Amino acid sequence: MIAPGSDAAPRRTGPSHRLFFALWPGDPLRQALAARVAALVSPGTGRAQRPDQLHLTLEFIGSVPADRLQAIRETAAEVRAEPFEVTLDALEYWRRPQVLCLVARETPPALADLVQALRSGLAARGFDTERRPYRAHLTLARKVVRSPDLAPTDPVPWPASDFALVESITERSGSIYRPLAAWPLRT
Ligand code: 2AM
Repeated sequence: MIAPGSDAAPRRTGPSHRLFFALWPGDPLRQALAARVAALVSPGTGRAQRPDQLHLTLEFIGSVPADRLQAIRETAAEVRAEPFEVTLDALEYWRRPQVLCLVARETPPALADLVQALRSGLAARGFDTERRPYRAHLTLARKVVRSPDLAPTDPVPWPASDFALVESITERSGSIYRPLAAWPLRT
């Protein structure tokens, strides 16, 4: 067996990409979500998510060498799942990642199917996948050090007819998310 990091082990030193699959909102929904961020994240609560960066993560992939991008695209292209609507209907504070988010109390079966299809396809191609049950959440603010008032909130319906592969680019000011490609939801 070759020890990790030994000289004989194959090294991958080329460019890599930090990737995840997400629902990427169209403009009208993005505006509605941005209004919600403005209403729910008061000054001093943390770092509000920029409107153009709002998204709902489906599966976080992590850092992958550029030559594995094609395998990820193949995974996405073979996914079969119905279009659906997910409703973000509760505000939660997650203490460890220090985020304030809107969550879906119920996961529509088609959304669960989509996430499962992505996880299975990625795993079949040798990628590590999330083992925890999926929970749909939209991060509204980061670096939130203590829980704000978690009042009941008006539900936000999110109709989904496609999903995206998104790159996370680390900048000094934080992470910038850039959609690379999208695939329609279809059976
Ligand atoms: P978050 O919104 O709860 O922070 C890009 O980092 C996206 O992938 C974010 O939306 C982030 O969720 C999500 N994500 C899920 N698991 C992650 C992980 N282990 N590391 C970084 N981001 C993760």
